[in-house]
Amino acid sequence: MRWTVTRTGAADTAGDLLVFPVFQIDEEADLNPLKTATRGLEGGGTGLTSLVRQGGFTGKAESQLPVPCPGLKASWILVIGLGKADELGLETLRKVAGRAAKRARTMKAARVLVQLPAPGALGFDDRSFARCWVEGGEMALAAIGELKTEFKKKPEFPRTGKFLASNSRTKALRQGVVEAEAFSAGCLFARHLVNLPPNILTPKELAARARRMARAEGLTCRILNVAQMKKLNMGGILGVGQGSRQEPRLIDLEYRASGAAGRKAPSIALVGTGITFDSGGISLKPGAGMDLMKSDMGGAAAVLGAALIASRLKLPVNLRVIVPTAENMPDGLAVKPADVITMASGKTVEVLNTDAEGRLILADALWYADRNNPDFIIDAATLTGACVVALGNHFAGLMSNSGTMIDALKQAGGETFERVWHLPLVDEHMEEVKGTWSDLQNLGKGREGGALTAAAFLAHFVDEKTAWAHLDIAGPAWSSSARATGPKGGTGFGARLMARAVQILVS
Ligand code: BES
Ligand code: MN
Repeated sequence: MRWTVTRTGAADTAGDLLVFPVFQIDEEADLNPLKTATRGLEGGGTGLTSLVRQGGFTGKAESQLPVPCPGLKASWILVIGLGKADELGLETLRKVAGRAAKRARTMKAARVLVQLPAPGALGFDDRSFARCWVEGGEMALAAIGELKTEFKKKPEFPRTGKFLASNSRTKALRQGVVEAEAFSAGCLFARHLVNLPPNILTPKELAARARRMARAEGLTCRILNVAQMKKLNMGGILGVGQGSRQEPRLIDLEYRASGAAGRKAPSIALVGTGITFDSGGISLKPGAGMDLMKSDMGGAAAVLGAALIASRLKLPVNLRVIVPTAENMPDGLAVKPADVITMASGKTVEVLNTDAEGRLILADALWYADRNNPDFIIDAATLTGACVVALGNHFAGLMSNSGTMIDALKQAGGETFERVWHLPLVDEHMEEVKGTWSDLQNLGKGREGGALTAAAFLAHFVDEKTAWAHLDIAGPAWSSSARATGPKGGTGFGARLMARAVQILVS
């Protein structure tokens, strides 16, 4: 959908559906703005508002009522509830916009007009309004099922969106539209990767798609193959990959801020795990639900999406995006419990459970990222079932050695609604993963605090002095049911969160 801003009013702008968001006051909708805007139109003003009242419309958030309006160029109005003004948050706006977009689709409205609430009526600025509205709409409209034989690539409706605005509001709205287009594109890129089946999205294919994205967006791209990883002694990535006929890869993308600002810009590394399928390896997972393990590359998808956003918005940052990618399979050469592998950092690790493989590939990638002494490292991984048990599907676990990063990620999570919850990471957890036969082991000594011992394992591969944050996104990376802002399946969780966190960290 293509979004623009126009200074013409509802009566003079060609369109097929005018979306009219209204607030709720107590149990009733406040229809005054609707009355004012449609006064003088055939059937408008009081006539229209009483029609809406008769329809039982309350203005509750996401409630909708389509009404025919012959006097208008757009012959239909979709009155849609924003809920109570003092409860309106950015995510409610995304959901409302998502509902409106889907309604436009079922009504076969090609050209959608959006009437803005009066300035000051919202608790936030027009830029945020446009950003959340467009983001919510784009995310909601994204379809799944492209591998079905009857899948239509370009849905016909809606095609364009237009905000109706007065002169003084257009600039902020346009900025919001630009941001939303980047943020939603990054999110949808990530979702699509997560939804791809693992026979198509192999490590090599993930690398090829990352390279294609990098070319299109103007990032530089290096892909390390098995021989190159052997030179770096990446025993973690190679060890996990050795049980599969699909070779592992290390993807290394770079985006640099341009000009003089670029030289001074902070450096941030985003590291995302790309297990394209996690069978568990020799410590094989049970069959039920194993299909979900195609989403075990959710961290990789998220950091690649974040890179796309950062480069489209030309953020003042020097960004490195590192993705270790492998398929975790059992075969005659696979790593087995009790094997001791040597990691790129030189540390030795006993593999007690081959299903705790994400941390092994991530450890090598974190070491690789840390070699360049970045100012900040954020990693994202669908790392532990324990984190899902602890926090459920709506929060990522956040473990970090940096207060600045914890604050930035919490703020970014609140704004993007990709929320994080801070969990502890202390010396006791670091002790838990020390080994008997080797420096470290890939499990804690018991089952307790599995998300924390996984993070502690990673901490052994990052310099204490590097500001580092780990996001365990095992819960929120996948949604088993559809939501207002998207279908079921991959959520793209983390792409918008990390891009926003980067914006905050460099500001
Ligand atoms: N990819 C899984 C974690 C996961 C679980 C992601 C559920 C998404 C949903 C990870 O590789 C894994 O298998 N972890 C094990 C670790 C255990 C063997 C210590 C787990 O959580 O059960
Ligand atoms: Mn696993």
